[in-house]
Amino acid sequence: MSSIHLPVRIEFGLDSSITIGSEFRSLKCSKVMVVSDKGVINAGLLDKILKSLADAKVESVLYDNVVPDPDVKCVEQARDFYISERCDGILAVGGGSSIDTAKAAGALITNSEPIVSMGGMGKVKNPLPPLIAIPTTCGTGSEVTNVTVVTDEYHFKVPIISPYLIPKVAVLDPNLLTSLPPSLVAATGMDALTHAIEALTNKLENWYADMCAIKAIEMIGKAIRPAAAGGNVKALSEMLYASTLAGISFTLSRLGLVHAMSHPISGFAGVPHGVANAILLPYVMSFNLVGNPEGYALVAKALGIVGRSGVLETAKAGVEEVIGLNHQLGIPKSFKDVGVKENLFPQMITDTFKSGNVAINPRRVSEKDVEIIYQASFAGDSPLLFIE
Ligand SMILES: [Fe+2]
Repeated sequence: MSSIHLPVRIEFGLDSSITIGSEFRSLKCSKVMVVSDKGVINAGLLDKILKSLADAKVESVLYDNVVPDPDVKCVEQARDFYISERCDGILAVGGGSSIDTAKAAGALITNSEPIVSMGGMGKVKNPLPPLIAIPTTCGTGSEVTNVTVVTDEYHFKVPIISPYLIPKVAVLDPNLLTSLPPSLVAATGMDALTHAIEALTNKLENWYADMCAIKAIEMIGKAIRPAAAGGNVKALSEMLYASTLAGISFTLSRLGLVHAMSHPISGFAGVPHGVANAILLPYVMSFNLVGNPEGYALVAKALGIVGRSGVLETAKAGVEEVIGLNHQLGIPKSFKDVGVKENLFPQMITDTFKSGNVAINPRRVSEKDVEIIYQASFAGDSPLLFIE
């Protein structure tokens, strides 16, 4: 059985973010906590947004202590700030860390349980305060998803999943991506590609998720190179819209082994989420291919692969395409290159299996399999090792 439940309005287009004041007015909010980070502020991305709020007579206060991979302390601080400032709405402006912090803080404001106790599905009992999300990267999808991720004291990234976590409105303004460094376009874009590929190929069947995923893969395959080359607003727009589509696909159909394995890498070794996913993606595609060759052939076709003989050859060409994409985008080749230490593997393997995404991975996976993938991606071995 499948279901489609997307209670989020999406506003998109150049300068769509400068209508934010009237959005909060219509939600009857008078004082908004803006959750963001120093990078967004220093790039001047909040200027027009704050003016729009002021013009609409909506007061705003800024919580800018968002950290990458937000932890319990960060989200509790945001909650305390909201309460002490007597806010009645939340605006997240930033990448996945800002939006996830805003969501988790929102859950803490209206629920008495500690945030990690709300980990898993359906444990957020009460609706959040009105929340609007404006992404400034092209990866997270968090602006439309039902999930937030908070890192606990043991470096485990706790997913909290609830329909209450879906923002009221997602505002997609490509102008906010024009100052994004190429390396971040590449890393966050590869995160979005991973979302779409995992949602399309995992064991959960949802035609609507598949449709969104295929379109997202097509758009990312065409736009990610010119977007990462810089100065191409059209390509950045396509990446932004595709990342939201990918977010819709995985909120309907969840993910797979890449995310199960990348969360421990970010949690223990601090590797940015998009980079960890990008490095793992071709290894996991190669490993998973026998579990869903038709699905991976669809991925390949969406990436523009044509003329291969048969499903397996087509699927394999899709893996090669992703390997080439990583190379052209300057994604590090191995986890050794980004400072991961081999002595972390036992803990990372244990945490991989705490993820609900392992059970829906298209191929059954053992601890030994995960160890082999971590070792190969650490050393930078050919990702094709499982299919050649
Ligand atoms: Fe992700």
